[in-house]
Amino acid sequence: MSVTIGTPLQASAYKVLLLGSGELGKEVVISLQRLGVEVHAADRYEHAPAMQVAHYSYTLNMADAEELKQLIHQIQPHLIVPEIEAIATQVLVDVEEQNIATVIPSAKAVNLTMNREGIRRLAAEELGLPTSAYRFADSLESFRAACDDVGYPNFVKPVMSSSGKGQSRVKSFAEVDAAWEYAQTGGRVNQGTVIVESQIDFDFEITLLTVRAKNPATGEIETSYCDPIGHRQDSGDYVESWQPQPMTPAALEESKRIAHKVTTALGGCGIFGVELFIKGDQVWFSEVSPRPHDTGLVTLASQFQSEFELHARAILGLPVNTTRHSVAASAVIYAGVDDRNLSFSGLNLALADGNTDLRLFGKPEGFERRRMGVATARAESIEQARELALQVANQVSINQN
Ligand SMILES: Nc1ncnc2c1ncn2[C@@H]1O[C@H](COP(=O)(O)OP(=O)(O)OP(=O)(O)O)[C@@H](O)[C@H]1O
Ligand SMILES: [Mg+2]
Repeated sequence: MSVTIGTPLQASAYKVLLLGSGELGKEVVISLQRLGVEVHAADRYEHAPAMQVAHYSYTLNMADAEELKQLIHQIQPHLIVPEIEAIATQVLVDVEEQNIATVIPSAKAVNLTMNREGIRRLAAEELGLPTSAYRFADSLESFRAACDDVGYPNFVKPVMSSSGKGQSRVKSFAEVDAAWEYAQTGGRVNQGTVIVESQIDFDFEITLLTVRAKNPATGEIETSYCDPIGHRQDSGDYVESWQPQPMTPAALEESKRIAHKVTTALGGCGIFGVELFIKGDQVWFSEVSPRPHDTGLVTLASQFQSEFELHARAILGLPVNTTRHSVAASAVIYAGVDDRNLSFSGLNLALADGNTDLRLFGKPEGFERRRMGVATARAESIEQARELALQVANQVSINQN
């Protein structure tokens, strides 16, 4: 059975509700718009990037179960596509159970991945995947014991947080109490649980974009993989990424095995960003996003179908093609200032090379470390692509008005 897409804004419309309207959602919306889908975009603030390209937009607190339920009831979407983690996920579990809408990729996936404890226990304890050593702690006392058990250096992360918030690397017992205090400020819930992870001494880290989509002939869900994406992180946030990341055939095979296992367990259709640490032939599972991944912005320049088009097609039950046509890189453009109503100049020089491109997300407000845009570049080699993407990003100047 295949999807039938009606006419947007008419009674036959095929409706998608996007929960979270950031820059990744914006690209997903554009892909859905091209296929004639009616898109409803929600976020906690007005004029969020994806809202600017959707048919309808809504500003609400998506972590509030009542507000979220009311919105779903009002729109009656066919698909609900979470773009962020801070959502009242129990509502999505109920929606799925009562067949009110399809949750992408599945309510289980959204529920487990919003909390580091859920996904880590699934990966390590149920599926037996290799991960760093880890402990959970919910008090200063248990945290001290957890750090001693795991050893030093270790990584501390609130279980309910993303993008490096509240995260720190603890080098010795002397830093333990400060790390606890810091973690308590960075989580989505106060006094939350943290995970303590042993440090993996990796050669490099990758995102393996993994797509679960229906085979058009059989209707069965099949798994396919994009080429591995290498990336560089700074303070828990990605600053540049490139594709492909060279690795040994054994490490690539092991990466796919891990990605297959975890995405099969999470279920449903759509793209997943599987984060892995690699050392030689050895691979560790780190975490997974059941949605497009920020490091995957590079696929806008490298693949016939970007991760956003792949997601749009997969969630609609359409066939996908993960083929890469170019070596490419992406470099993040930060606001560098805390202000609203910013403008961007120097674009003519930035884009002078015909193998480069730019996305400006249109966020109404910038912060020092807020991602406002991304530069992409294609080249003969990874080194050249990275250099060119960084050059493009650096040539964009951000001005206050
Ligand atoms: N156990 C570990 N060993 C070594 N490095 C680690 C470990 N855990 C995290 N890191 C480093 O910190 C980065 C961020 O960690 P992680 O992906 O868990 O956090 P996050 O807040 O979910 O980030 P994001 O939301 O950007 O993916 C990793 O990409 C890696 O570079
Ligand atoms: Mg991560």
